[in-house]
This record gives sequence, structure tokens and C-alpha cells, in this order.
Amino acid sequence: MYRFRRLRRDERVRSMMQETRLHPKDFIYPIFVIEGENVKSPVASMPGVYQYSVDRLGEILERVKESGIGGIMLFGIPAHKDPEGSQAYAEDGITQRAVRFMKENYPEIYIVVDICLCEYTSHGHCGMVCGDEILNDETLPYLVRMAVSLAKAGADMVAPSDMMDGRVTAIREGLDQSGFTQIPIMAYSAKFASAYYGPFRDAAHSSPGFGDRKSYQMDCANGQEALREIAADIEEGADIVMVKPALAYLDVLKESALTYDVPLAVYNVSGEYAMVKAAAANGWIDEQRIVMENLTAMKRAGAKIIITYHALDAVKWI
Ligand code: PBG
Ligand code: ZN
Repeated sequence: MYRFRRLRRDERVRSMMQETRLHPKDFIYPIFVIEGENVKSPVASMPGVYQYSVDRLGEILERVKESGIGGIMLFGIPAHKDPEGSQAYAEDGITQRAVRFMKENYPEIYIVVDICLCEYTSHGHCGMVCGDEILNDETLPYLVRMAVSLAKAGADMVAPSDMMDGRVTAIREGLDQSGFTQIPIMAYSAKFASAYYGPFRDAAHSSPGFGDRKSYQMDCANGQEALREIAADIEEGADIVMVKPALAYLDVLKESALTYDVPLAVYNVSGEYAMVKAAAANGWIDEQRIVMENLTAMKRAGAKIIITYHALDAVKWI
């Protein structure tokens, strides 16, 4: 009999034997920025998460700075939406203004920007629409414009989440041609069409106005296809590849970690956060222990970067 329990005997030896340790730098914290003044508006389905106007961003950025986390991921919510999502690449767009504000006032914080049109389009889809079709190639130049415009504003990294084919190649070329050869791309590579995005769409006002996203996001049944998506994005020049959501897709994350030698990110999405917060609010689970168990599982499965709404709490619990 091998006595495994020898190395579990007390906290000293247990902590010495721990294989996976969370670190503040593992985390990226998503932030929602909205038009207006003096706005800090709670997101009902995501307790603890708010939409901030640019003039109120300082409050959350102070906490980010103090926490020592790796960075933030910015999502803009424009007042004006149109079929082409023009505020996504407008020089004075809400996201561009938020990036400039951060660059000026919090230059030490690493800024990742989500690149997608769904928050900016009147139809709420991630690309250009013709009839009930979401167009692929026609969408790419708009994504490139958005990426270049946010790089100009001062973003440190771009993260395309639209799931159009060929967007990584297009964005890389666009950034390079504009002189942004040093801006990395974190591709949402294996992004599944998931019910777990529900609360985010409330927070970001980005629900599709008709149909769903199944013609561009992946079928949750498809693990092999996820590996092909990741391979394609690496081939196209992605610096970091992502699996999203996290908990129901840890098998995909683990297999990617075993298959590919590139940094992996995982997105612990809004629905996962909402479930934990709701159960904790009811006293049905121990929030701190559940959060740390979930985040540890993501890192154990192979994530180098964890994008999570729990980030600012988790650093206190490490
Ligand atoms: C935009 C985008 C979404 C998320 C990140 N970027 C929503 C979607 O695809 O509908 C989801 C994040 C979350 O649920 O926390 N394409
Ligand atoms: Zn989108």
C-alpha cells in the first residue's frame, strides 16, 4: 500500500506539495464602460459588476492597480448603434476614449481590448448582416479598423471575439501596416455558442436582434473542431489563444494545452460568475472556496491567463 496521506498530514506539507498555485498576474479583469457622466450602474445578473462612465473609471482602476493583477479587458457600450457598428472604430468612440483615459491616468495597467462589433451594431450581430446572413469576408475590414483604432488610442493587446474566419490574419496585417507590429493578438479561438453569455449580453447591450450566433460561434458538442480552430489561429499568427467558456470546456482547454505550445487563455464567463454569485447569495455554497476551486481548476487544466469577473476578490483569497 502506498500511503498518499503522508503528504497530506498537515498544512505545511500540503502547501509544499501543491502543484497548482494561483497568482494575481494570472488574472485579467473585464470592465464595462458606458457613455454618459457620473454613471456607475449595477448589472443586475452580475452582482459586484458595474458599467462605468469614463469619468467614474478611476474608482475601479484604483482597485485594479492595487490588486496587482495582470491587466484588464475593456468592453465599450456606445449610445449610438448602426448596421456597420461605426462607433467601434470612431476616433472619439466610447472605447477609444476609455483607453486614452487609462493610458493617461493609469499607464501601469495593461489594457486588453475586446474586438467585436456586437456591442456597436443595431442588429447586435458580431459582423455585417445581409438578410439573415452574417457575412464573413465583408466583416474583416471593420474588425481591422476597430483593432487599429484602439491600438492608436493606446491599447496594449487586442482580443478578437467575433469568430469570423481569417480575422487573425487580417488584424495582424492591419496592425503591422499601421506600425503596430508589437501589439499582440489574443484570439478567442475556441469560442462556443453558449447560454453562459446571457448576463454579459445584459451588461454589454449586445444580444442579437434576430436569430442566434450559431453560424459563427462553435457547437458545444465539438471538441475536435475546437482544436482545428486553435491550430488555424496559431497558423494565422495569434500570440495567445483562448477557450471560452471555462468550466464546461476544461477538457478542450486541457487537450489544447497538451497539443499546442502557445500561451492559453480561458474566459470564466458571465453565466459562470452569475451562478456562483446567486448560489452564494442564498447561502448554498461557500463563495470563496468555490471561486478558488474553479480558478485553480482552470489553471490546472492549462490556462496561463484567466479572464474572470472574480479577479479582484480572488487576489484577496490567494
Ligand atoms: C462579444 C463577446 C461576448 C463575450 C465576450 N465578448 C458575448 C457574445 O459572444 O455574445 C462573453 C463574455 C461573458 O459572457 O462573460 N462577442
Ligand atoms: Zn460579438
